[in-house]
Amino acid sequence: MTITFIGHGYVGLVTACVFADFGSDVWVVGRTPEKIEKLKKGDPLIYEPGLKELLQKNLHANRLHFTLDYDRAIPTSDIVFITVGTPPKENGEADLSTVFHVTEKVGKHLKKGFTVVSCKSTVPVGTNLEVEKILNTVKPAHAEVAVASCPEFLREGTGIYDTLNPDRVVIGSHSQKAIEIILEVHKPLGGERVITDLASAEIIKYASNAMLATKISFANLISLYAEKTGGNIEMIMDAVGYDKRIGLRFLDAGIGYGGSCFPKDVMALISTGQQIGVDTSLLDAVEEINREVQNNFIEKVKKNVNGKNIAIWGLSFKPNTDDIRFAPSLYIIKNLLQDGYHITAYDPAAMENVRRILKDQINYAGDPYEAANGADALCVLTEWNEFMQADLLKVKAHLKVPLIIDGRNIYQPNMLKNLGFTYISTGRKSL
Ligand code: UGA
Repeated sequence: MTITFIGHGYVGLVTACVFADFGSDVWVVGRTPEKIEKLKKGDPLIYEPGLKELLQKNLHANRLHFTLDYDRAIPTSDIVFITVGTPPKENGEADLSTVFHVTEKVGKHLKKGFTVVSCKSTVPVGTNLEVEKILNTVKPAHAEVAVASCPEFLREGTGIYDTLNPDRVVIGSHSQKAIEIILEVHKPLGGERVITDLASAEIIKYASNAMLATKISFANLISLYAEKTGGNIEMIMDAVGYDKRIGLRFLDAGIGYGGSCFPKDVMALISTGQQIGVDTSLLDAVEEINREVQNNFIEKVKKNVNGKNIAIWGLSFKPNTDDIRFAPSLYIIKNLLQDGYHITAYDPAAMENVRRILKDQINYAGDPYEAANGADALCVLTEWNEFMQADLLKVKAHLKVPLIIDGRNIYQPNMLKNLGFTYISTGRKSL
């Protein structure tokens, strides 16, 4: 089977490498010559554990090809997956211009015979029907095409594992032939198969992300109760999550969700709700709480730090990625800068990306200890393993004041107290 991916971001590139590894012939189409050249040389452009190795392995096996030319990839393909970005517009609506633009290019190059075109990008309900209309308008007369929605559920940082071990594969289409081809290509993967209509498949993706964001905001809301009353959020959410109807996962309170998915998808679902006349107050609250916990963290800094020098550990929106899109760290740092704080930051992977945005407004340290040097407090914003395993006595020796404000609850409060720190964490008593 020959498969083409349009776009080489987290979803496109990870899935392309995994399918190539299963033995399919895989094309990846991009639009930036320098990026395609780098990909051809085995540079994945993004930091994702295991991706470089998988990319290089399949390049050497000649199963993975990168190109700028639709006419090289599309006419040989049985399936075309659209995996381009759908970023939020100012009003929260998903920007589908790239999806429609690439659809037109795909349509013009469809081969004689049957091709499935499938959106793996997260797109609002109704988009695949639009895609189908465009394809049917521009395709050559001899080409036959059907659309299928096949949303992707991988997480950044564990993208390869998630692709290989899906909980479910969702396929929405009104073409039985398209469903069968997509089923065939996913054959090596486990997980439930959910075969459904186009609209349901599109909504499933938004509902999944919004549900997870809701769990996080709920945990964050309860953490505010715990913080104000002397409770312990971890014990609370563990006990809540032991109820199998609720489950333990995605109940970690902290400084809120970020990344390229939850913030954008909750906004887009709100926008769709407004367009079709559905009350979105639950989702509005999910967003508000997410912002409130970040403001709560900023307040803790202002209230507890004597001095203006802050060390920050962690910039990426979660560990094991260099992605800083909608990262809580950026919101927190920008607010602290406005209040005249001097910031020295360290992150194992995301510093270059932050440097592009914040430039020299903050200092960038070579390691976690250098970041702590002379600081009036250390703020933990991302739970990288490196920070959990840090030599805390060394950290204490570098800090001017032994104060840690932890937005991700990576340490045990008593341990920090015994080491002589003041430790302010999230939803737990400060010690
Ligand atoms: C999320 C979903 O988990 C994937 O299933 C989905 O495919 C993806 O979006 C997408 O739509 O492409 P991702 O954004 O990569 O994946 O990362 P998550 O692990 O879900 O974390 C998102 C944010 O939630 C992070 O900022 C993380 O720190 C935060 N989070 C997560 C919490 O604050 N608490 C938790 O308990 C879990």
